[in-house]
Amino acid sequence: MKVTAKANANIALTKYWGKKDAALKTPWNSSTSVTLEGLETTTTVEFDKQYKKDVFVLDGKEYAEDTDEYKEVKEQLDIIRGKAKSKLFAKVVSKNDFPTAAGFASSASGLAALTFAASKAAGLEFSVEELSKISRMGSGSASRSLIEGFAIWHKGSRADGDDSFAEQIAPISHWLDFRILGCVTSKKAKKVKSRAGMAQSVKTSPIFETWYTTAEKDAQQMVKLIKEKNFEALGQLAQKNCILMHACAMTTTPPIIYWTDGTMQVIHRVFELQDEGMKAYFTIDGGPQVKVICLEKDVPKLKEELSKLDLVQEIIDCKPGKGPRVVKEHLF
Ligand code: PMV
Repeated sequence: MKVTAKANANIALTKYWGKKDAALKTPWNSSTSVTLEGLETTTTVEFDKQYKKDVFVLDGKEYAEDTDEYKEVKEQLDIIRGKAKSKLFAKVVSKNDFPTAAGFASSASGLAALTFAASKAAGLEFSVEELSKISRMGSGSASRSLIEGFAIWHKGSRADGDDSFAEQIAPISHWLDFRILGCVTSKKAKKVKSRAGMAQSVKTSPIFETWYTTAEKDAQQMVKLIKEKNFEALGQLAQKNCILMHACAMTTTPPIIYWTDGTMQVIHRVFELQDEGMKAYFTIDGGPQVKVICLEKDVPKLKEELSKLDLVQEIIDCKPGKGPRVVKEHLF
């Protein structure tokens, strides 16, 4: 069977950076996010006898078997084949409508779309909770892209990792004027992938314990602020949490510094706008792009101001988005 699914990226409002169990892919702390409409991956999966090996094409490029991208897809297909008790190989064709692997959480939307489409193509019907756990194995943040609107990925406490999945905090309708402005400062793929970077931080950052204990409290507080729609406190907490995560990355050996001149330019402009009374806050994942958290009423002014910055190449305006869904139009 051939199935095509779409899934959206998400931006962590409070982040995860570090796996506690490398095999189960469970995190040291819980994290929260908003799924983003407008940053989308579309993936078609077909399991069939005609394929003599798995084939993976992303944005028109076929990946060889020795690439990380191919291995990631194959690992995810292996999990699904295991659950379906199938030995069939698959062809996977995928496209992103935003820069791949440069801190726009393409791994989140990519792994969520792949897990969703591949399970259905293998004839399996999973609950959202189950799909979130399977997505987690491919990319931690993908576990949250299974959820519409606002999500928390519970770190869980069970030894088998079975309670580490994402759950909805609130749907899109809860906060219709919530916006994220994705400021693209570079379209180059990042040098250090999150998976490798965070593993190094766990081992070497002297502030790792401070990071994850603070981040756990931040995640629980974020749930409360989302439910209360306390925008100012939410923005401040997201910003503070982002800075601590990057401090942890920066204090890793060797250092992981995702921020570029463009990143700093946006950060400083956001600080100036805050001083002028604007309610806008920044957050940054594993890459140079800056996501500005704001409300719809401030979008025109913020776009005007941020687009004046010479290192900002593009601004992507995102609303809270849906979870994965099946679509009829296939990519092959
Ligand atoms: O989804 P992963 O395992 O590649 O890790 C992503 C980590 C961050 O995006 C930096 C933070 C987060 O919580 O999304």
